[in-house]
This record gives sequence, structure tokens and C-alpha cells, in this order.
Amino acid sequence: MDRIRIEGGRRLSGAIPISGAKNATLPLMIASLLTDQKLTLENVPALADVALLKRILANHGVDYMVSGKRAGDAPNIGETLTLSAENIVDTTAPYELVSRMRASFWVVGPLLARMREARVSLPGGCAIGTRPVDFFLMGLEALGAKIDIEGGYVVAKAPKGLSGARVHFPHVSVGATHTIMMAATLAKGETLIENAASEPEVRNLADCLIKMGAKIDGAGTPKIRISGVDALQGTTHRVLSDRIETGTYAMAVAAAGGDVLLEHAEPGTLQAALDAITQAGAEITETNAGIRVCRNSSGLNPVDITTEPFPGFPTDLQAQFMALMTRAKGTSHIRETIFENRFMHVQELARLGADIHLDGQDATVHGVEHLKGAQVMATDLRASVSLVIAGLAAEGETEVNRVYHLDRGFERLEQKLSACGADIERLSG
Ligand code: UD1
Repeated sequence: MDRIRIEGGRRLSGAIPISGAKNATLPLMIASLLTDQKLTLENVPALADVALLKRILANHGVDYMVSGKRAGDAPNIGETLTLSAENIVDTTAPYELVSRMRASFWVVGPLLARMREARVSLPGGCAIGTRPVDFFLMGLEALGAKIDIEGGYVVAKAPKGLSGARVHFPHVSVGATHTIMMAATLAKGETLIENAASEPEVRNLADCLIKMGAKIDGAGTPKIRISGVDALQGTTHRVLSDRIETGTYAMAVAAAGGDVLLEHAEPGTLQAALDAITQAGAEITETNAGIRVCRNSSGLNPVDITTEPFPGFPTDLQAQFMALMTRAKGTSHIRETIFENRFMHVQELARLGADIHLDGQDATVHGVEHLKGAQVMATDLRASVSLVIAGLAAEGETEVNRVYHLDRGFERLEQKLSACGADIERLSG
């Protein structure tokens, strides 16, 4: 199993190209199931989750093609991926594939809308809480589907097709919003989704669906109105920049010190996180090329945050911000309200000398003067990158084990950081 070795204490300086967003790419790829025409996605990141979803879609009969680099392309340009679901040959998404990534469950919406049936294994993914699928099932039932759970599979049927309806989610769910929005594009009549997720990835997906011929209003707000159409067509669409990757590197610079341009970053997609990093003492400037993050040798201020649905502070940056706060001059409070078990990084950060007290969904972080390198274990995707941030800011050597979690969501992390002067390398085996 690969490990990452970091010799901490180096300032970061230079530029980091931000990749296309994993969390936008996945639903966009799944949207290819809604049409028999070709969907071309640009700026697709090379990540393990994207590779896994290619396999899952291929199992349904989706052909895919990745365009190679062209002369003159920037070295860090994302892939162009063309997906064609001309013939869906299998409406089952099997356990072996779905259990490895929760987002693959979302195929249930498009399969049901287009094929009038879907058999999808209950999901797995990062172990960050129970993560049930009740909102999905409630939404699909509202659209007229008959749902049974059989042997760990959700079996959904709508022999006469789906019909538009009012769907009110009890809590904001990104995945349920993506899924019901996609399903409703091909339902008869109008669907109103209330308490919808307004994350930028939902907006990015809706923009693509609209280009495919869907009639959608209000994506990016808590109320989305969809008028069903008979069929969708192919299009070309660009994946937006990854706001979680952007925030992660911004926090890495704030933790290690330095001056880095985050190329292609879209500040409007992570304002709450940028505000928190600024309060912590880094300087953030928006430029035409992206976001520039600087922190000189002055210390870090403690900042309290609470994770919330967009536009609040994202749960996917909570672990990274905690790593930053471990070295603040004072005490900060971090409240996790989205997932109940998303503090697994705490005991690993403690191995580096962090002083963190946990009480249910609240973490109290007492800043320490120095972190000291140690062997640590990645437990989930975002937790693992928080250990990298702490390692960059620590004295001495840190080794992060189980980095396959990182490869699910961070493209070429070691290369991007070492190009900015970090002493970081991947050790194989
Ligand atoms: C997505 C993101 C993930 C991010 C999360 C919250 C992708 C691929 N993943 O995950 O990175 O951390 O949004 O911003 O985009 N819930 C239920 N019942 C349901 C559905 C959800 O109770 O049917 C709960 C979950 O357990 C969780 C909360 O709702 O407590 C939010 O989850 P949700 O927004 O659905 O997360 P994902 O879409 O899985």
C-alpha cells in the first residue's frame, strides 16, 4: 500500500492548478444515462472515484472515450471524457461496485427515469456516519416509483414512467437533490424540489442538463422547479473547479506559510472557507488567474467554525481547517453538523502533538506551538488530506499510510505540493 512521506517546515511558493471538481464530475457522468446521445465532459479530473464510476457506467452499457492531450495543451489540463449511453443493457448496479462509492447509488434516478426500472445496491463510501438513503427513496416514491428493498438492493419500478410531484426534503442532501433533479427531467409534468441543496455542483449539473434540453429553474437555490420533457440530447459541458481542493491548498499555505496562486479557483464557490482562512491570518486576493493565498511568518489566529450546507462552511473542509487550527495562538471551536462521525482525523492529529478535545459534534482545539512529525493513518478522503496539511506544518518527518483514500479525491497531490517547494513524496508498497 502506498504511503506519503513529508518532511515538514518548508514554506510553499508558486502556483497550483486546481482540477475539475470530483463532486461535480460524478453526477455529470451519471447524467449521461439520461440520453441516447453523446455527453462530452471537459476538465474531468483523473481520480480513483472517476475511474470507478466509468466501470459502473460501463456495466450499464455506457461507452466512454477519453481524448488524449493535444499539442499546446497545458500540462495540467483535465481529461475530456465522452460518454454514450445509446443502449442501456443492464439496469442493475451491483454491490461489488456501488459499495465502494456512495455517489454511484445516484444512478437510480436516471435509470428509473429512462428505463422505468433500476436495481441498485445500497451504497457504501467513506465511513463518516450512517449516511442513509431515505430521502432518495421518499423522492422517487413521490415521483410515482414503486420501491422494494430486496437482498440489499433497492428495486425501483415505474412501468408507466415517472410523474412530476412536490418533493420536500427534511434536510438538505446533495445526492438526493442531484438524483431527484435528474429523474424529474424525464418525468411527466412539473416537479418542485423544496429544501434542495444549493451547492455549486448542483448548479453545474443543472446547467449541463439544461444544455441537454431539460427545463430547470432555480438550481443553486433551495427551490428547484423542473418541467419534464420527453427526451434529452447530447451536449458538451465543462466541470467547474474543485472548491474543496482549492480550500485544502489554501489551508495548506496558511498552515505552512508562503505565497501560492491557486489557478482556476472560483472564489464564489467557497467564500465561507476563504473568510475563515482570512480571519486565521492569511491574506487572500482574487486575481484573473485564480486566488492568491499568502501568509508571512506571523502566527495564526483561532477561528470558530460550524459546518453547514452551502453557502456555509463545507463539511468537506472541516478536517483540513482543524489541522490549521492545531497551531493557532489560542482555542478554537469546530462544530460538525452534517455527518455524525466525521472526527476520525482527531486521534491521528493528536499523534502529531495536536491538543483536541471532542464532545459529540463539537471539537475544541487548543493551539500548540509545534507539531512533531509521526506515522499516521488516513481514515477517509478529507481526513487524510488534513494529515498532509498537519505534516507540512510539523517539524520532522510524517508518514501518512493508506493513501488510497487521497487518490479518490486529490489529483497528483504530491506533484502539486512539491512543485511549490514542499518536501513530499509517495513511497510505493
Ligand atoms: C455529498 C458530497 C460529500 C459531502 C456531502 C455534504 C459528493 C460525491 N459527495 O455527499 O463530499 O460531504 O455532500 O456536503 O458530492 N442523509 C439522510 N438521508 C438521505 C440522504 C442524506 O439522512 O437519504 C443525510 C446524510 O446522512 C448526511 C446529510 O444528510 O448526514 C447530508 O448528506 P448528503 O448531502 O446527502 O451527502 P452526499 O450527497 O452523500
